[in-house]
Amino acid sequence: QLERSLVIIKPDGYRRGLTGEVLRRIEAKGYTIAKLQVTEATRDQLDAHYAEHEGKPFYEPLVEFMSSGPIVVAVIEGNDCIKGFRSLAGATNPTEAAPGSIRGDLGRDWGLKVQQNIVHGSDSTESAEREIAIWF
Ligand code: CMP
Repeated sequence: QLERSLVIIKPDGYRRGLTGEVLRRIEAKGYTIAKLQVTEATRDQLDAHYAEHEGKPFYEPLVEFMSSGPIVVAVIEGNDCIKGFRSLAGATNPTEAAPGSIRGDLGRDWGLKVQQNIVHGSDSTESAEREIAIWF
């Protein structure tokens, strides 16, 4: 099924110069980059994007982290790209993420209150459309 997914290269990924590497992996997998921008997230965008996590202990650190520098926001397209990109990204916890994945190859635990795990990818078609409307 042809899908769109919202991908964010988080401030840690941008700061570490991993933008090209992440986009390279998306293209090498065969997904199309349909939209792309470097931006700085506003509080309103983050509250909307992370609404489901509001109230969790890592919420404020997460919003602070996501506001700590530029991010890269992309819309990617391809058959089953939502599941496919989550597989490319690897497990949320970079220590557990499988080698071969973005987080498994490039991420680690930095001992911080929030998992700095380089990328975000939508988890369903509904969240993809919701998230795309927030950022584009
Ligand atoms: P993401 O997929 O963008 O969605 C929520 C983010 O919160 C997640 O990536 C991590 O950066 C962070 N996160 C999720 N679970 C935890 C956790 N248990 N502890 C700290 N940070 C977390």
